[in-house]
Amino acid sequence: MLATLAPVHASGQTGAMTSPAAVEKPLSPPIVIAHRGASGLRPEHTIAAYRLAIEQGADFIEPDLVLTKDNVFIARHENDITGTTDVSTRPEFAGRKTTKTIDGASHTGWFTEDFTLREIKTLRAKERLPQFRPESATYDGRFEIPTLAEVIALAKEGSRLTGRTIGIYPETKHPSYFQSIGKPMEAKLVAELKKVGWDSADAPVFIQSFEVNNLKALKGMTKVRLIQLMDAAGGPADAGKNSAPTSYAAMATPEGLRAIATYAYGIGPNKNVIWDGKLNPTSVVANAHAAGLRVHPWTFRAENAFLPAVYRSGTDPATHGDITAEIQAYLKFGVDGFFTDFPLQGVNALKAAK
Ligand code: G3P
Ligand code: CA
Repeated sequence: MLATLAPVHASGQTGAMTSPAAVEKPLSPPIVIAHRGASGLRPEHTIAAYRLAIEQGADFIEPDLVLTKDNVFIARHENDITGTTDVSTRPEFAGRKTTKTIDGASHTGWFTEDFTLREIKTLRAKERLPQFRPESATYDGRFEIPTLAEVIALAKEGSRLTGRTIGIYPETKHPSYFQSIGKPMEAKLVAELKKVGWDSADAPVFIQSFEVNNLKALKGMTKVRLIQLMDAAGGPADAGKNSAPTSYAAMATPEGLRAIATYAYGIGPNKNVIWDGKLNPTSVVANAHAAGLRVHPWTFRAENAFLPAVYRSGTDPATHGDITAEIQAYLKFGVDGFFTDFPLQGVNALKAAK
């Protein structure tokens, strides 16, 4: 599976940008989380993307999880698989195209819950962002959609071959929606992790969700560490249900963070939640740490299109800027890890920060 392992190289990047003074220390040694695998270089959520992330030195690989018709967890960012697979080109599935309302938004396309795993396995992944990632798009049509079981097996094999502990960082996607169609995710996920021995607080697993109630339910089912995601605007899909906060802004207040600490190990904020736009941190990292919460922001991407102006190189949105310097700035904010599409640069940023 990982027959050869590329060494983890120093990056050689020079970009010395202005950085803020150290203002907060991490609660735990920072970890590199490969967001959807090394998804800057391979189509996201494929074994090839996860394998490359492990080879590049990532500590955790991140599968977003949705369910098939026959209730198998597979790694996709959405249950709408129109944009990241070749399903729209398959005449045998033309009749499955439909429109659904998910978390209050209308979507037209093809949906995982309408396909058996056997059917899903006939599809092939494609690059989500070919305009920014043409090299990754050359791999279109080559890779299957992996199951959670296959991702777990890869992580365990990666641990054995590298001598490092490779963890997984699964995200339950649209848990209220899946519950509403008779496919609750929580107990099934806990059972699948327990089957491979991952049911303790020191298991190399973090379970994440943008929703609140499913994390609270998970808290009663497993000791595996839980991460409350929060975006820079809006609120969770289950806002207001069972007293869930109505906005992510409320969740990021000191009071909101203390409430999260009653059921979660940490928070996964949009990186803009903890950056003031002027190379300084907001108070969220310090407040989260004061509540005992780890902080794992997302998502660090190399392309200019996703970088703050100070780290860009030229004006082409697809050109890579100095992602390593951006991550180093956040490390000085005291984060306990970070999600990146480019794990090698993440590993290099951590090395340079030591
Ligand atoms: O899970 C962390 C980050 O991945 C959340 O955003 O939309 O990429 O799943 P998303
Ligand atoms: Ca995710």
